[in-house]
Formats: sequence, C-alpha cells, structure tokens
Amino acid sequence: MKKEIKVDLDDKSYPILIENGILSECGSFLRRITAAQKIALLSAPAVYKAWGRELLKGLARKRFQPELILISDGEKNKDEKALSRILKRLASLGFQRDGCLVALGGGVIGDVAGLAASLYMRGIDLVQCPTTLLAQVDASIGGKTAIDFAGIKNLIGTFHQPKGVLIDPQVLGTLDNRQFKTGLAEVIKYGIIQDEALFAQFEKRPELILRRDPQILFRLISTSCEIKARIVSQDEREGGKRAWLNYGHTLGHALEAYFHYGVLTHGEAVAYGMWFAGLLSCRLRLCPEIVLRRQIAVLKRMGLLRKLPNFSPEEIYKKMFLDKKARKGRIQFILTRKIGLVTIQKNIAQPIILSALTQLRAEASERC
Ligand code: GLY
Repeated sequence: MKKEIKVDLDDKSYPILIENGILSECGSFLRRITAAQKIALLSAPAVYKAWGRELLKGLARKRFQPELILISDGEKNKDEKALSRILKRLASLGFQRDGCLVALGGGVIGDVAGLAASLYMRGIDLVQCPTTLLAQVDASIGGKTAIDFAGIKNLIGTFHQPKGVLIDPQVLGTLDNRQFKTGLAEVIKYGIIQDEALFAQFEKRPELILRRDPQILFRLISTSCEIKARIVSQDEREGGKRAWLNYGHTLGHALEAYFHYGVLTHGEAVAYGMWFAGLLSCRLRLCPEIVLRRQIAVLKRMGLLRKLPNFSPEEIYKKMFLDKKARKGRIQFILTRKIGLVTIQKNIAQPIILSALTQLRAEASERC
C-alpha cells in the first residue's frame, strides 16, 4: 500500500508520501524534495529510540549524514526555550540557507521544528516525518508552525510549508492507546466536515479500527490527508474553508485550557467539542437530531468520551473568546448541516451558547 498526495500551492507545492516501512527508504524521498546540503534531525528521546535508527538507515542509503538535535516533547515543552535551543544548535553547527530540518515526532516536535525552520536565516527547508496519528493526519500538513506563549496555546507561529511529508503508518504500532484514539478524533472530524463514507467506516468497522488493522488504518490516514491537502490547497491562510478544520475545536481548545491540558487529551477535548457543535447545530435547526446522535455514538464507540469533569459554562464561554480564532470579538463556530457538510456561524447569541453548554455538562457527566 502506497499513496502520494499533492498539496497544491504553486511554487510551494509538496508531496505527502504514505507507505508502510517508508522511513527506512526515506533518503530517496529527501533527495527528490530538497537540494539541501546539510541536514539536522530533530526528535524527542523516546521517539528517536523507537524509530531513529530506521530513519538514519534510510538517510544513509542516500549518503545523508544528519546532525542530531533532541528536545523533550509534551505540550509543556512547546516553548521559547525549545525554539531557542534548536536555533542555537543550528547556528553552532554552521547551518546555512541550504540546510534542512527533518522533524521526527508528534505534533509538538513538528510544530516547533516548523517554527525554527521558518525563522532560521529567514527560512530553511523542512521535512515532516510524523510519528503519531494526530500529527500524521493533521499537524504535519498545511504549514502551521507554533509554540505556546504567555500561557496561550500556539500564540507564536508562522506559516511555513514543508518540502514534503513522509508518513509511515507502521510507526503507530508503538503508539499508546489513548494517543492513538486522540488521532482518531481528527479522522472522525474529517468525516463529519467532508466525507460521509469516511465517517461510516467508524459505524461499520469499529473493531477493525480499534485493532489498528493495517488496511483500514492506511485508508483512514490517506483519506484524511487527501481532505486536508485539498482544503489547504484552496485556502492556505485560513481565510475561509480552512476554518472547517476547526470543527469541534472552539470548545475543544477552551476545555483543554480550562483543565490545564492535563485532564483531557486534545482528541478527547475535540470529541466533546464535536458533541457540542452537533448540539448547537440541532438547536439552531441546521440539522436533524439523528446527525448529533450518530456523532455521539461514534465518539463513544471510539472511547473518546471518557469522563467530562464538571465545568463552569460561564468560564468556558470566556475562554472561547480568548481563542485566537474568535474574530472581532465574535466566537466562530463550525456547525453541522449533515454528516459530510458543515457551515461557519459567527453570530450565535450568548444565551444559546450558555444553555447548550449547560446541556452538554449534564448529558456528558450522566453518560460517562
Ligand atoms: N489543524 C488545523 C489546521 O491545520 O488548519
């Protein structure tokens, strides 16, 4: 199984290559996408221990001899210290404009690597080798880079498209179950916003998905990447439809921040966010109740609705305003019309939002 998908952005276009075992063959891919003379491999210790050798083998086959930069991953390390360490190492290694940074890791490694690559000498080449499902289907594609700053997630960032994205689904074999499921939340999201057949896979084949059957996993990853590539190709800077990718994220980000990032994973928070978006969509009569019920059933079956601790709707409402995607003081929601079709809504009255939050709080704690 092998698939190549193009992110079509004129002179910034790049390929996403998805293939089992491709890490140990990555040298040819790199030779094709970058003319870089010097390569630095950025990773986190545990990821490097698990997959670094495969990648180095692949690079050595094409006579690449990368320098290694290791940093700690985890959201609390996605900060200016990590960024500064990478930039200092690149400088001390004498990297020039013809250098290339290869990121091997999850979303934190990919986001910080992207920011460092965009800043160093006003921009060097970047290659993403994502090792979590979340990073494979979302963070590694589309050129968003970031660190957290002043207590706000992803506050400092740039757009810097990679030269290529190399996805080896085999690496997911070492991913822990909760992290695997957090990535599934984003795949479910792609189904809801664009592709009912993708969503239906979760209704028809839940056991195979949870067992990480290689064929279905390959299909979920490649379909998700195709959807993201298509949306980014049409709207790189999130002026319009790229905002669809934030389905479930308006509340999801607020819940993550409210619980200080330690209680819910990103995918779990987004799962409750999707439930909430479905709830709002029904209340505003944008879709029938069955659309919401199908979403809740799938999220529950995938183990994403663990336990939503008690929260204050008013506090969460305030946090949603802090989200950098709130435009001109208005919270923007992506809502469902049907599975596979969403719409952007900006003017939802505060009492409707607060009352839907109260309903979610009651139903989510009852259900779990
Ligand atoms: N993760 C949402 C985006 O890339 O736009």
